[in-house]
Amino acid sequence: MSPTRFTGKVALVTGAARGQGRAHALALAAEGADLILCDIGAGEAGTIGTLPYALGSEEGLAETAGQVRALGRDALTCTADVRDSGQVDGAVAAGLERFGQIDVLLANAGIASISRIEDMPDAMWREMIDINLTGVFNSLRAVAPHMAGRGYGRIVATSSIVGRQGSPNIGHYVAAKWGVIGLVKSLAIELADRGVTVNAVAPTSVDTEMIQNEGFWRLFLPDAEQIREQDVRDAYTALNPIPIPWLQAADVSHSVLFLASDEAKFITGEVLPVALGWNARNAS
Ligand SMILES: NC(=O)c1ccc[n+]([C@@H]2O[C@H](COP(=O)([O-])OP(=O)(O)OC[C@H]3O[C@@H](n4cnc5c(N)ncnc54)[C@H](O)[C@@H]3O)[C@@H](O)[C@H]2O)c1
Repeated sequence: MSPTRFTGKVALVTGAARGQGRAHALALAAEGADLILCDIGAGEAGTIGTLPYALGSEEGLAETAGQVRALGRDALTCTADVRDSGQVDGAVAAGLERFGQIDVLLANAGIASISRIEDMPDAMWREMIDINLTGVFNSLRAVAPHMAGRGYGRIVATSSIVGRQGSPNIGHYVAAKWGVIGLVKSLAIELADRGVTVNAVAPTSVDTEMIQNEGFWRLFLPDAEQIREQDVRDAYTALNPIPIPWLQAADVSHSVLFLASDEAKFITGEVLPVALGWNARNAS
């Protein structure tokens, strides 16, 4: 693998303050890319009232930028809520002003919350669809004219293994992640003759704050008084033919970078699972 696959390339990553977004940004920087790093920022985080965990912070975003710069690459940080198309368009405009081009978009920002559908409040449904589906739409639409106009682009959206099946307790998340795949496949066709590929990555559980919180752990141990990460390791492991509980964020980065690279120039409208064998018993 060339250490310079992304030399001369500029990548925009949403949800870059931590977790998978940070890991992907650092992997791209290590292979030569400059970065536009977006996240919601501390002021907005409190408005996501339906989550069992806190979102990324401006300090986290600055930390990601510092780590990119330590790898010798340039980083521009943008506080942008992907629900707001004006803020997303603004981040793209700022990136283009700084770097003159955007070659790669990773539409990675997302949330997860828990409720059975029959009990789900309107706010929980709306926040999920606004961020995990409309946020991806806003991000894809914001870069599409620029990439199509240049005749070059690589877009990778983050779906999930539950983007192609049903799952209890997270029906709103499942619906949004199926939606992401529909968006990706449709835009892939629209941009296929203009040098832009559009794909999705579909991870199983990843060791980030999104799932490493008591709200999610309680799905496995609903009656426990206190739960720690080690208490749920066995339950997570039992889900996977490859017997580990969860991926590390960097494990997903390898697949994301492949889809974002020129090696994948003839792959578009596809979904790449990184799933510890989760799909091995299924048709898809
Ligand atoms: N962790 C998992 O098990 C898992 C599995 C499959 C897919 N995913 C998906 O991977 C992606 C990354 O999640 P993660 O695991 O790194 O979780 P994470 O919570 O660590 O990171 C998500 C980032 O997105 C940001 N974000 C959330 N809402 C935003 C908004 N409205 N505008 C801008 N930024 C926003 C957060 O602040 C955070 O920094 C998400 O789309 C998630 O649904 C996660």
